[in-house]
Amino acid sequence: MAKDDEGRLSEAEIAVHWKEEAVYRPSTKFVGQANLSDPAVRERFAEKNFPECYREFADLLTWDKYWTQTLDTSKAPFWKWFVGGRLNVSYNCIDRHLGQYRNKAAIVWVSEDENEPDQVLTFQELYVRVNEMAAYLRDFCGLKTGDRVTIHMPMVPELPITMLACARIGVIHSVVFGGFSGEACGTRIHDSQSRILISMDGYYRSGKLLDHKVNADIAVKKAAEEGTKVEKVLVWKRFRDKSASPTPMVEGRDFIVNDGLKAFRGKRVEPVSMPAEAPLFLMYTSGSTGKPKGCQHSTGGYLSYVAGTSKWVQDIHPTDVYWCMADIGWITGHSYIVYGPLALAATTVMYEGVPTFPDPGRPWRIAERLGVNIFHTSPTAIRSLRKVGPDEPAKYNIHFKCMTTVGEPIEPEAWKWYYDNVGKGEAAITDTWWQTETGGFLCTTIPGLDPMKPGSAGPPFLGIYPIIYDEKGQEIPPGAGRAGNICIRNPWPGIFQTIWGDADRFVKNYYAKYNHKPGSTDWHDWPYFAGDGAVWAPDGYLRILGRVDDVINVAGHRLGTKEIESACLTVPEIAEAAVVPVVDAERGRVPEVYVSLKPGVKPEGVAEKVSKAIETVIGKIARPRVVRIVPDMPKTRSGKIMRRVLASISNQMDYGDITTLANPEVVEQIRVQVQGAGPVTHKAGPSDIKEFGKDV
Ligand code: WT7
Repeated sequence: MAKDDEGRLSEAEIAVHWKEEAVYRPSTKFVGQANLSDPAVRERFAEKNFPECYREFADLLTWDKYWTQTLDTSKAPFWKWFVGGRLNVSYNCIDRHLGQYRNKAAIVWVSEDENEPDQVLTFQELYVRVNEMAAYLRDFCGLKTGDRVTIHMPMVPELPITMLACARIGVIHSVVFGGFSGEACGTRIHDSQSRILISMDGYYRSGKLLDHKVNADIAVKKAAEEGTKVEKVLVWKRFRDKSASPTPMVEGRDFIVNDGLKAFRGKRVEPVSMPAEAPLFLMYTSGSTGKPKGCQHSTGGYLSYVAGTSKWVQDIHPTDVYWCMADIGWITGHSYIVYGPLALAATTVMYEGVPTFPDPGRPWRIAERLGVNIFHTSPTAIRSLRKVGPDEPAKYNIHFKCMTTVGEPIEPEAWKWYYDNVGKGEAAITDTWWQTETGGFLCTTIPGLDPMKPGSAGPPFLGIYPIIYDEKGQEIPPGAGRAGNICIRNPWPGIFQTIWGDADRFVKNYYAKYNHKPGSTDWHDWPYFAGDGAVWAPDGYLRILGRVDDVINVAGHRLGTKEIESACLTVPEIAEAAVVPVVDAERGRVPEVYVSLKPGVKPEGVAEKVSKAIETVIGKIARPRVVRIVPDMPKTRSGKIMRRVLASISNQMDYGDITTLANPEVVEQIRVQVQGAGPVTHKAGPSDIKEFGKDV
């Protein structure tokens, strides 16, 4: 087998493990009602019609002032879409639907507690509550267009209400996933320079009422340490009649929103007409260098793109009941729980809790009761529902016309269970590949047009022209049978605008790799580097292999290894730390931690301290499967920790040639410590682990 200088398998061999799957076709019944079933659309979005083709997306929105230029590339790669246009996102998601859908459900919220009634917000109710909140934010908090606000909230209707209220007055929201720790929230408050934090007293998770207010106190403290003073903490109440948190309110700083809103009853706030390229929100995500990146998304381009993809890929009609079982604290929830579905006047379902609580039939009871006909979830949820309740879906009268999977590559076996059991062989499945940065789907089948292939995301979406490059910048064409780095050659309306406060890093991370003319204003010179490995089949379908950088995809979400490693180093006993991904049957990948101790330190209790530190700094989602204390880290002669070798050991894979390391003997010691004294294992293993830690 061909190996490179570091003993890795070549890209050609990575692809060899890929078995072609037979295709499935959508039912005639589905195609008959689909929003998009006319193949001529591909011609309309052919490259020769770019960028004007995206007018079809922009025309899904209501503009206060129509735009004059589709795409401005004069400051490449800082693209501007629909230049000259003005619009308001909350107007587009609410007000414009009132004429026809005033009394239709906009949001149906389901508590984790099965005894608590649902909350149904009609478009009228949503309109009233968003207006009151917008007035409160503007008049009580003094927020104005362009200010940033950090929102650290669980899955409750007050979360989209708050987001839409911000959008109404042009305030940029930064929603931090509710499961992240107070410290992680504090770091993001500081980075975005928010002086207002919006939180909640508590919420249900796995049957327990969690105190969430306590995280707000930690976040404010952390932000202050980093240099940002939070002036006000706004706390929503989980229950009407009681507090859900024992943590006291801080006089003069903390305010109960529900009380404050009373003064704004019936208030209306004129939606602020925003330029198309004004930022709508920040969403922090992990990258290959330590600090989380605040991905800045636009108003007009973003909303057009999520409306277009919701309509054509998720096949959302205003009459549909749509349920995306993600969390709004991630990009999936922003684009495909809140903004996309509401822009199309759909009914969007929100569920507070854990899908398998109190039993694996829960999602299907919710879907049956609410008449959900479009379902959206992740491979990690699919695997866990299959594991604990493989036969549950059959017990319920559920009928989905289409379903989505997102977040990581899905194993064909899990796909087939989803198709046969959840979809009952009736639902079209779209496997949508995209990222926090991309705003919306990049590769997916169009369910009314294309056959489905388990394990393949599918062809590029309309107006998206990918290219796969090898490390040297040579193109790997479709059908070559080799994997490489997937890039998108052109900009699209959903692409993020920059990294908040770090334009250099934006260019360096996403565009510099394959750009040869740094001063160019021609988009052809700026392929977007997605950071994923991919193989392009002869039939034009793309199979995504996973990240090529130091990022671990846990349960469909990116966690930066450097962030986890710095959390480990907050434990005083630790000298060095290395975090690697380990294959996990349910969560996809989980972090495993290697640490070496400072001289003279006793190992007792250290592993627990490291785990705890990770939970405190990042959150439970990053909790390692195991913390291993090792005598030393395997290193190159220049002192770089060889995470790839550790990843191979943790995953029982062949670690390849290590003779060039500074301390090859430590590898065998670690291997015996992890795997026992038996013979060296030679499992092939998945490509993202083989490639892990490789410099890009
Ligand atoms: C990374 C982005 C997109 C919203 C949720 C995650 C992986 C995402 C797929 C898919 C294979 C996928 C990629 C990507 N990924 N969707 N359908 N098939 N891989 O957003 O946290 O920004 O992570 O998730 O590796 O780069 P994110």
